[in-house]
Amino acid sequence: IPVDDFDLVIFGATGDLAHRKILPGLFRRFEAGQIPPTSRIIGAARTEQSDDDFRAETARAICEYTSVRKEHPQLAEFLGLLGYVSIDAKGDGGWQELKDRMRPGAVHAFYFSVAPSLFGDIAERLASHGIADNDSRIVVEKPFGRDRASARALNATLAQHFDEHQIYRIDHYLGKETVQNLMAVRFANVLFEPLWNAQFIDHVQITVAETVGVAGRGSYYDKSGAIRDMVQNHMMQLLCLIAMEPPYHFDPDAVRDEKLKVIRALEPVAPADIVRGQYQADGTDSGYLEDAENPESRTESYVAMKVRISNWRWQGTPFYLRTGKKLRARTSEIAITFKEPPHSIFDDSGVPKANELVIRLQPNEGMNMKVMIKEPGPGGMRLVQVPLDMSFADALGPDGADMPDAYERLIMDVIRGNQTLFMRGDEVEAAWAWTDPIIEAWEDGKRRPEPYDAGSSGPDEALRLMHRDNRRWREIR
Ligand code: BG6
Repeated sequence: IPVDDFDLVIFGATGDLAHRKILPGLFRRFEAGQIPPTSRIIGAARTEQSDDDFRAETARAICEYTSVRKEHPQLAEFLGLLGYVSIDAKGDGGWQELKDRMRPGAVHAFYFSVAPSLFGDIAERLASHGIADNDSRIVVEKPFGRDRASARALNATLAQHFDEHQIYRIDHYLGKETVQNLMAVRFANVLFEPLWNAQFIDHVQITVAETVGVAGRGSYYDKSGAIRDMVQNHMMQLLCLIAMEPPYHFDPDAVRDEKLKVIRALEPVAPADIVRGQYQADGTDSGYLEDAENPESRTESYVAMKVRISNWRWQGTPFYLRTGKKLRARTSEIAITFKEPPHSIFDDSGVPKANELVIRLQPNEGMNMKVMIKEPGPGGMRLVQVPLDMSFADALGPDGADMPDAYERLIMDVIRGNQTLFMRGDEVEAAWAWTDPIIEAWEDGKRRPEPYDAGSSGPDEALRLMHRDNRRWREIR
């Protein structure tokens, strides 16, 4: 379904995110017929260049980061939507021209794909030049602050010029199809929800493993580490979608209210319940310290932690989170391990094992439910655990395999004015309020992260975190 006619201004249009995600995502949506051909996409950045230069740069980026070739029949048409204004975020240059280009009557959205230190300047100039009004939307990228105080200050700055209903804070994990599917699985089936609590669930594992290191973005990453870069936002969002109560409606504030309650119910994490790791050089690959260009760095490229949620539903069911760079495989999944059946009637044929539901977020998106059945054959009642495995590609055909990138979905939601998959200001602050003490306790100490080999599953200490509780991580593969 096409969205309304819009003017989208991308601040930071010459940057990496615009090239890799935003512009290719917009092209995909245009190709799919979702963007009205009257719409305008205006790049804004400091570089002086013409509309045509920006079109050529965008064409190069789309061809580099997607499988689209420059002969693609719709590419030229898409480039016709583009324009460019050279803008001085801290001065007056370019703002009047930008204003002149905005068409009355179209939806106006402003994407801040720039350093957070410029958010205030841009917001202020959009307002003072009369470019943005009460119907305009702004989109801001992570990192949204580096602790609660800075996130709060950012929220306050934006609030001087925009209402909360105009602010779209992106967490691109919320735009992933399978992440949204968590809500469909939980709240559109009768099967799972009655069992979705501490009475039936032994524990939950959330894994986001990556094979890439931090080379090329070490200066950003070294000041963040896995907790700020992944846990405070993406992992927290996954945890919330798994743990939240059913919202009364699939409506932005109803969903975000429920997520906020989960974040507020998180217990502080004891130092013994967290393991930090740093990947080491192996024969061919560089190690974290070289990639970060900081030989003294104590920043973690891996973290595993045991998280408890202090409420009725989850009392006694731990959530184990782990994420890291340079691990054995790129895989993101959520595994729900149910409790073992309370009693086995099958005396001589083994004890039934616990059911497990694994939701694969990427790659090979799908679900796998492990159930006990009778082993076929005349040998008596022997039990065996088998997978009920479903990949979206198999179940849904080409539509299941061709999942739109998270940014495509999210940018269209901005134009539609739907904030459900965006973080609210109080949610972000609450997430920082939980991670701040974890980060401070580490920064105040002197311990170094545990080394782990590039291409491994992470440090051995993370295994012990589980063994201590008589549990095991799922294999990363
Ligand atoms: C980003 C982090 O937000 O998410 C990166 O800054 C990380 O460090 C990336 O690599 C992971 O996203 P995806 O979509 O590749 O799982």
